[in-house]
Amino acid sequence: MLKNDLILRAARGEKTERTPVWLMRQAGRILPEYRAIRNRLSGFKELVETPELAAEVTIQPVDILGVDAAIIFSDILVIPEAMGLTYEMVEKKGPHFPKTVEKISDIDSLKVADPSDLSYVYEAIKITKKELNERVPLIGFAGAPWTIFSYMIEGGGSKTFSKARKLLYSNPEMADKLLNMITDSTIGYLKNQIKAGADIIQIFDSWAGVLPPEHYSQFSLKYISKICQAITEVPITVFAKGAWWALPEMVNLDCRTIGLDWNMDVATAKNVLKDKTLQGNLDPCALYGSNELIKIETKKMLKGFQGHPHIANLGHGVYPDTDPNKVKYFIESVKELSTS
Ligand code: CP3
Repeated sequence: MLKNDLILRAARGEKTERTPVWLMRQAGRILPEYRAIRNRLSGFKELVETPELAAEVTIQPVDILGVDAAIIFSDILVIPEAMGLTYEMVEKKGPHFPKTVEKISDIDSLKVADPSDLSYVYEAIKITKKELNERVPLIGFAGAPWTIFSYMIEGGGSKTFSKARKLLYSNPEMADKLLNMITDSTIGYLKNQIKAGADIIQIFDSWAGVLPPEHYSQFSLKYISKICQAITEVPITVFAKGAWWALPEMVNLDCRTIGLDWNMDVATAKNVLKDKTLQGNLDPCALYGSNELIKIETKKMLKGFQGHPHIANLGHGVYPDTDPNKVKYFIESVKELSTS
């Protein structure tokens, strides 16, 4: 039995004694304790693929920051890799795919991931669950098919994602084929994360905001919806960064929680998403402010969500140069200000 199940209860829409809080991208980057482990290794991938160490950095923010959940240390890009497209994590730059998908024959050389290909993730989840010893829930995750597709086409980050968007116009059948393969890979992967012990799942659609609304329905939400329908074991959170116009359609997803970024209007979201829990949405830059300011902004955020099931978080991942003490102050402020 979990000792702290606030996030799970909030995700189910239940009233909780205070607002639960965690941070996207809490594991890693900001913590000197993470960097100490990371610097001993050949790189990011070695850490992701070494279950004992992945478990250790997963638990660090629970011990150091006092968050109400752990999120398994991994990356959304393990899925393209399991499908046959290897990624590299370039120091200080980010992900890079030496080979990308350009034509239909490139898709033919890929496969739907065999869930057992990612056994290092499941092993890390099992170790984490054991070491957490029921203190807080463990969040499993995957990228949304559209976001994964973007990386497989672009080969890395992009300002415009114009190669990925171009394909939606020039060859929608090819796009659909690849998106379906990613979707099927993701369903098997998430089911295995749950079998290994994940208590709740988050789907990250980080590049949702680059699509026009009609394409977002057709080339992103459709596949997210398929995943939500297939995963019935635990509650799901869908975070679609930048897709504020999609909120009315997201009501129909078989998920419990919708993540909001800091551009989204909370009052509107509360109205539109009456039966869903909301997660978010402090601007990560607020954590560059003084403690006094962080408290004021946190108070404003909590007030905005008042009367609605809420999981406090930032509106996107915490930025790497954020002072961990400010993160801690934010977490303590949520706990203090939301206690009824
Ligand atoms: O949230 C967590 O703390 C768990 C671990 C986690 C990582 N990546 C570890 C990581 C999670 C949930 C992710 C998700 C992820 N990865 C997303 C979706 C979330 C989002 O922020 O929008 C995306 C788009 C990626 C792809 C990715 N991985 C990028 C663009 C980068 C480089 C830039 C960056 O954000 O650091 C990564 C690398 C990465 N993934 C790091 C970490 C801790 C930094 C690598 C390092 O240790 O040097």
